[in-house]
Amino acid sequence: MTPRYAMFLALVSLLLFAGRYVSAAKCHPDDESGLLAFKSGITEDPSGFMSNWEPGTDCCHWSRIECAEGSNNRVTTMGFFGDLDDPDKYLSGTFSPLLSKVQNLEGIYFQDLRNLTGPFPKFLFNLPKLSDVHIENSKLSGPLPTDIGRLSHLKVLSLTGNRFSGPIPSSISNLTNLDELRLGNNLLSGPIPNGLRQLKVVYNVVLEKNQLSGEIPNFWDSFSKLQYLLLSNNKFTGGIPTSFESLAPTIMYLELGNNQLSGKIPDFISNLKSLQTLDLSSNGFFGVLPKSFKKLTAITNLNLARNKLVDPFPDLAIERISYLDLSYNKFKLGDIPKWATSSEILYSLKLAGCGIKMRLDDLKSLGNDFYNFVDFSDNEISGSPVNLVNNKGSLVGFSASRNQLKFNLSDLELPRSLKYLDLSKNQVFGSVPQSVVGLDKLNLSYNRLCGKIPASKFPAAAFEGNACLCGSPLPACRRQ
Ligand SMILES: *[C@@H]1O[C@H](CO)[C@@H](O)[C@H](O)[C@H]1NC(C)=O
Ligand SMILES: *[C@@H]1O[C@H](CO)[C@@H](O)[C@H](O)[C@H]1NC(C)=O
Ligand SMILES: *[C@@H]1O[C@H](CO)[C@@H](O)[C@H](O)[C@H]1NC(C)=O
Ligand SMILES: *[C@@H]1O[C@H](CO)[C@@H](O)[C@H](O)[C@H]1NC(C)=O
Repeated sequence: MTPRYAMFLALVSLLLFAGRYVSAAKCHPDDESGLLAFKSGITEDPSGFMSNWEPGTDCCHWSRIECAEGSNNRVTTMGFFGDLDDPDKYLSGTFSPLLSKVQNLEGIYFQDLRNLTGPFPKFLFNLPKLSDVHIENSKLSGPLPTDIGRLSHLKVLSLTGNRFSGPIPSSISNLTNLDELRLGNNLLSGPIPNGLRQLKVVYNVVLEKNQLSGEIPNFWDSFSKLQYLLLSNNKFTGGIPTSFESLAPTIMYLELGNNQLSGKIPDFISNLKSLQTLDLSSNGFFGVLPKSFKKLTAITNLNLARNKLVDPFPDLAIERISYLDLSYNKFKLGDIPKWATSSEILYSLKLAGCGIKMRLDDLKSLGNDFYNFVDFSDNEISGSPVNLVNNKGSLVGFSASRNQLKFNLSDLELPRSLKYLDLSKNQVFGSVPQSVVGLDKLNLSYNRLCGKIPASKFPAAAFEGNACLCGSPLPACRRQ
C-alpha cells in the first residue's frame, strides 16, 4: 500500500465515520430510557412490534416511534396498532410510569392491542404536550381518576373498549379542549356528569355500551360542533331532552338504542336535518311517529325497532335508506314502504312483526341486488321468496319465520354468501337441499318438508314439525 493510498483510505473512513455520526444523531437519553422502560413493562410482544428497540441506537428510528420534524430529535408519537382478528397482533403487560420521561409526546395510539392491563396510566398527567390519547380495546381497569380534568390540554381522549368502572368524574368539565371523548364499551356507571356541558367544541361523544343511568341531561344547547352522540346500550331513563333540538345544525349520528327511555318521540327530532343515523330501538317509546318525520329525507339508518309505537305510520320520504328496522312495534303497515324497497343503497331491511300482508312474489326486487339482511318474520306474507334470494350474491341473512310462505324449497338457490336462513313456521314443501350444509344457522322447523335431510351440523330442532323429514338428526328414513 502506498502511503498516499493509505492516507486516502484514512480520509474516506474519517468521512464515513463523520457521516455515520451525523445520521446516527441519538435521540434524547430521556426518550430512550423512557421507551425502554415501557418495553420492559411489556411481557409479550408476539408480532415483534418492538423488535428493533435496541439500547444505544437512535430511538427516533425504532418502529412504532416518530420524532416529528422540528422536534429536535424528541419522540412525539407512539403508534401501536393491533388487530382484533390477528391472533399474534397483541401486547401483554402494563404501562411503565417512566413513560413520562418521553416529555414531548403529543400523541399515543395503543389500539386493539387486547391485553394491556393495569389501572388508568398516571404517566399521562406528566406529559405537558400530550393532545391525542387512544388506548382502545385492551384490558385496563379500575376507576377513571377523579382529577382527570388535569388533562385539560387533551384534544382526544379515547379509552373505548377497556374495563374502566365507576363514575365519569365530574372534573371532566375541565377537558374543554376535547374534540373527541370516547369512553364506549367499558363498565362505567352512574349519571352523565353535569360538567360534560363544558365540552363545548367536542364533535364526538361516545358513551355507548356502559352501565350509565339516570336521565340524559338537558344541556345540549351549549354544544356547537357535536356530530356524533352515541349513548346506546346503557340504562338511561326518562325522555328525549328538549335541548337536542339545538344540535340541529351539526348532529349526524344520534344513537340512543337499548336503554330504558320512554315517552313520545318529539316532533322536533324532524328538525335535525343533518341526521344520517337515528337509533331509538329497544326502549319504551310510545304513541305515533310524528308526521313531520317526512322532513328527514337525508337519513340513511333508521332504527325504531322494539318500542311501543302505533299507527298511523307517517308517510316518509327518505331518499336513500341503507338500514331500516321497524320491527316489533304495534304497526300494521300492510305493505312494505316504497321508499324502502326502491332504495339503491339498501343494506338491511328488518320489518318483523310489522303487520305486513302481501304476496312475496309481487316484490320483484329490492332497489339493488346488494342487500345483506332481510327480516320479514311474524307477518302475514305468502308466496315465495325465490325472487328475493336467488342470485343475490351478497345476502347474508334471510328470515321470514312465522308467515304463510308456500313454495318448493328446491326452487331456492342459496347464494354462497348466505349464513343465516330462518323459514320456520310457514308452509314450505319439497325437500331440504344439499346447499343448506354451508350455512351457520338454519331453522326449517314447522313446515311441510319431506325426504332425507342432508348430513349437516344442525340440531333436530332445525327440522322438527315437518311432514316427513327423516335421517340424522331426525330418526332414520324407512327403507322403501
Ligand atoms: C394476557 O396477559 C395475561 C397476564 O398479563 C397473560 O396471563 C395472558 O396469557 C395474556 N393473554 C394472551 C391472549 O396473551
Ligand atoms: C380545572 O382547571 C383549572 C384551571 O386550569 C384548575 O385550577 C382546576 O383545579 C381544575 N379543576 C379540576 C377539577 O381539575
Ligand atoms: C326455530 O323456529 C321456531 C319457530 O319459529 C322457534 O320457536 C325456535 O326457537 C327456532 N329455533 C332456533 C334454534 O332458532
Ligand atoms: C320440488 O321441486 C323438485 C325439483 O324441481 C321436484 O323434483 C319436486 O317434485 C318438487 N316437490 C314438490 C313436492 O312439488
